[in-house]
Amino acid sequence: MSKLMSPITLRGLTLRNRTIVAPMCQYSARDGFANDWHMVHLGRFGMGGFGLVVFEATGILPEARISYGDLGLWKDEHVAPLARIVAFLHSQGAAAGIQLAHAGRKASTPVAWNGPAELASEEQRRAVGYEHWRPVAPSAESHDPANPDFQVPAALDQDGIRRVIRGFVAAAQRAEQAGFDVVEIHAAHGYLLNQFLSPLANHRTDEYGGSRENRMRLVLEVTEAVRAVWPQEKPLLARLSVSDNAEGGWSVEDSVVLATELKARGVDAVDCSSGGFAQGRIRSAQNYQVPFARAVKSGAGIPTVAVGVLGNVAAAEAILEQGEADFIALARGALDDPNWALHANREQGGDYTLWPVQSRRVAEYDRLTK
Ligand SMILES: Cc1cc2nc3c(=O)[nH]c(=O)nc-3n(C[C@H](O)[C@H](O)[C@H](O)COP(=O)(O)O)c2cc1C
Repeated sequence: MSKLMSPITLRGLTLRNRTIVAPMCQYSARDGFANDWHMVHLGRFGMGGFGLVVFEATGILPEARISYGDLGLWKDEHVAPLARIVAFLHSQGAAAGIQLAHAGRKASTPVAWNGPAELASEEQRRAVGYEHWRPVAPSAESHDPANPDFQVPAALDQDGIRRVIRGFVAAAQRAEQAGFDVVEIHAAHGYLLNQFLSPLANHRTDEYGGSRENRMRLVLEVTEAVRAVWPQEKPLLARLSVSDNAEGGWSVEDSVVLATELKARGVDAVDCSSGGFAQGRIRSAQNYQVPFARAVKSGAGIPTVAVGVLGNVAAAEAILEQGEADFIALARGALDDPNWALHANREQGGDYTLWPVQSRRVAEYDRLTK
């Protein structure tokens, strides 16, 4: 059996293979609630043979959302519709993960397809659940002063920081109630935890700013607090922007130090992404972030998830074979082909047993038409 398709165990969770659907914001919730869109969008990846399906960046607090359309887990009522999707994924043999997130100063931004014309009347705004609020951040600086979509945030005080930590904890507890197998802490892409890590966004003078140790404090406090309530047998992941890809920003070397600390606090794998600040751009191309996964894996001795244009099956297999990462995550590739894992399995010589039982007749049809 190929590496890509062989099962892998983290704590008490065995994934049927090493393929992951990376978290993808859908901006299709109202008041944080999952609905039929999320069921169909996520459910098809379970039917498509993936090992783990990670739900989109989910707001741990109302003000933590990138937009009013994000999923949320800040109230108990959010649990039931998520639990329904989790149960469906389980019925298809996939594990379910949720990315817990706080957007920080990149919160309360527009949903791309709801422009001024779509939000002109009160009725239209109500129909899409429109909300607008002032974001919070480590420092009172806009993500991008040239872009009116981003506001100048309020700098978090000590109470605000406690509220963030409590929000992550309560959301993790609700994720457990919903039956999730994995929690991923979102510390990437220029959102709140990444803002604290990066010298590009953190200009605090208290114990949460200044030195690298201070800038790492909030992420590590969140991780410890989440690990304390997230069941011991369930894996905890963290997504990092391994590099800000910007002069004076967070670097690969910083990420190796952080990953070592995360590992010591019970993080089981690091999902290795990059970027997220206006100053740093990287062109995406096949395997473009694999060096980040390799550096964190070898530097911190922790399993890693590689992500970023990994749809080529042979290339994905080579990443695992060469020990550059332990998991292969797809976002756009999974949207393009929700059955990617089924197809990868066939490409690697596998049979149809990964297919949903209702679809295995494809094999019969194959035989009959030969
Ligand atoms: C539609 C869409 C939504 C995304 N939303 C999230 C998100 O909620 N959280 C996150 O960490 N990354 C998000 N990403 C980034 C992806 O998870 C992934 O890291 C990135 O797209 C690179 O992988 P790919 O080349 O397979 O698309 C999103 C990407 C896309 C295309």
